[in-house]
Amino acid sequence: MVKGIVLAGGHATRLYPLTKVTNKHLLPVGKIPMIYYPIARLIECGIDDILIVTSRDHMGDIVNLLGSGAELGISFTYKVQDVAGGIAQALGLAETFVGNDSCAVILGDNIFTSSFADDIKDFVLSDSGARIILKSVPDPGRYGVAEVSDDGKTVLNIEEKPSSPKSNLAVTGVYFYDSSVFKMIKTLKPSGRGELEITDVNNGYIKKGCLSSCQYSGEWTDAGTFSSLLYANNLVKNIEIPKVITNIVGKE
Ligand code: DAU
Repeated sequence: MVKGIVLAGGHATRLYPLTKVTNKHLLPVGKIPMIYYPIARLIECGIDDILIVTSRDHMGDIVNLLGSGAELGISFTYKVQDVAGGIAQALGLAETFVGNDSCAVILGDNIFTSSFADDIKDFVLSDSGARIILKSVPDPGRYGVAEVSDDGKTVLNIEEKPSSPKSNLAVTGVYFYDSSVFKMIKTLKPSGRGELEITDVNNGYIKKGCLSSCQYSGEWTDAGTFSSLLYANNLVKNIEIPKVITNIVGKE
């Protein structure tokens, strides 16, 4: 069984003052709040048990929007991340929720224009401990960047926001892990920016020889800066609002 995790904590200082009175992940992208997109992508994968991790400031707003999940035919569980200690730290809070299952983790500000359900099926059938999804981008230095083997099939290393990227392959914000991820997170040390980095988790799986990857053919962006939020709003003009969401918000 695969559990879903949406990480919606963090500082969101880059979007201040939009984030002064509400959570970044509730800002509009097209006609709906941002967080619906990552949730819908998990539901499309057949995941019906989803943990939302968010900061204490605006947890109430998130719960007001999403409720128990009954409207969507799924179940939401909530966890507070008291301090924005990094993506891997936020994921660490999901340990008891995931138990011995696997998990699909998605960043709450990541917008994917098409389903990655087939990739999750491949992950479940494979015996790799973790899988990441890569996307070729014009500005890789903003992301985690994969260094790949000459045949492009194996990820050799990942660098977080490198000044001289070794490829144009960004690591998107969706990750599939087995339950050993929590043991790995406990071994991490904070990075230069004081956070437990998801890139260190993925490099840990590379060292163990059990990270697989695939490339995403749809369009992808994060929405965490003013320019990427605008880009995300333009991007979703061309896609249909995921059906699970139109069921509750209506088409218009
Ligand atoms: O968007 C993909 C990129 O996301 C990856 O390529 C990078 O490897 C990864 O580190 C991350 O980079 P960012 O620096 O853009 O992540 P950011 O700090 O903006 O956080 C992204 C989301 O993660 C945010 O919307 C909520 C969640 N988050 C973040 C932090 C720092 C948390 O839930 N808790 C946190 O403490």
